[in-house]
Amino acid sequence: MKELQFHRHRRLRQTANLRAMVRETHLHVEDLIYPIFVVEGEQVRQEVASMPGVYQLSLDYLNDEIAEVVELGIKSVIVFGVPREKDEVGSQAYCEHGIVQQAIRQIKENYPELVVIADTCLCEYTSHGHCGVVENEQVLNDPSLELLVKTAVSQAKAGADIIAPSNMMDGFVAAIRQGLDEAGFVHVPIMSYAIKYASAFYGPFRDAANSSPQFGDRKTYQMDPANRLEAFREAESDVREGADFLMVKPALAYLDIIRDIKNHFHLPLVAYNVSGEYSMIKAAAQNGWIDEKAIVLEMLTGMKRAGADLILTYFAKDVARWLKEK
Ligand code: PBG
Repeated sequence: MKELQFHRHRRLRQTANLRAMVRETHLHVEDLIYPIFVVEGEQVRQEVASMPGVYQLSLDYLNDEIAEVVELGIKSVIVFGVPREKDEVGSQAYCEHGIVQQAIRQIKENYPELVVIADTCLCEYTSHGHCGVVENEQVLNDPSLELLVKTAVSQAKAGADIIAPSNMMDGFVAAIRQGLDEAGFVHVPIMSYAIKYASAFYGPFRDAANSSPQFGDRKTYQMDPANRLEAFREAESDVREGADFLMVKPALAYLDIIRDIKNHFHLPLVAYNVSGEYSMIKAAAQNGWIDEKAIVLEMLTGMKRAGADLILTYFAKDVARWLKEK
C-alpha cells in the first residue's frame, strides 16, 4: 500500500503533561470578577430562586461574603443594589446613604485592597424599572445622563475603585468621565458596558435585582442581538469618550463579538457571563444532566479563547476553588 501523507496531530495529545505544555488558553483567579447583590434590612441572606447559590445579602452578612471572596484570591467584586424604596427618578441610586454606597464604604473600610466595581444604572432603583428617565413611556436619553453622572459620582465618593455604567444611554461614558473629573475623581477608571444586547439571558438577574421593566422592554436602548457592526460603532464611541475597559454582554451567545472587539480595540476586555447562562447550567446540573465543573471551566475557557481578558461571573467563587484544587 502506498504510504498516506498526513499530519499526526495526536502526537501532542498523548499525555496530560504534553497537553499542558501546548495548552493555549488558561483561566486565572485574577481573571474573575464576582457579582454581589446587597439589600436593605438586617439578617437577610435570601437565595435568588432562579439562581441557586446566589444570595441577596444585607450589610451585616456582607463581611463574611467578602472574607470568603478574598480568601479565595479573587481580586474584584461588582456590587448591585436592591433598595427598599423605588421612585420615578431612581433617587436611591445616587443617595449618599443608598444601599450600594453603604456597601462600598463598608467593603473598602474592611478590605481596602479588594477592587470594588460599582454598577452604574437606574433600573434597580426606578419604579418603572427602566434604566433612565421616563416620560410618556419613552426613555429619555439626555436627562438620564444627568442622573447617571450623579450616581457615578456618589459611588466614587463612597470609595468605588471602578465605575461600570450599564445603562446604554448614548454619551454615558463622556458624561460620566466629565462628571468624575469635575468632582476630583480623575483617577477612577470607567468600565463601560459598551456592547450590551437586549437579551433574554438577563431574566434571572431581574429576579435577583428586582429590576424588570414595568412596561415595554429595553430594545430602544440595548442592542439588537442580530447586529455585529453596531458593536463596533458602540465600542468606537466609548473608546473616543474615554472608557478604560470595554465589556461585551452577554458572553456565551456572543463569542464572535468578543473576538471582533478584541481584534480591533486595545482596551482590557470584559465578558459578562450573565445570569441566564448561570441558571441554565445550574438547572441542568441539579438534574444530574451535565458535569457542572467541567461545563463551567469549558465555557469560561471559551470566553478567554474568544478574547476576554476578564470574566464577570456568578461562578467566580467555584472557579477560584477549582483552580486552587488543581
Ligand atoms: C442593569 C444590569 C442588568 C444586568 C447587569 N446590569 C440587567 C438588565 O439590563 O436588565 C444583567 C446581568 C445578568 O443577567 O447577569 N442594567
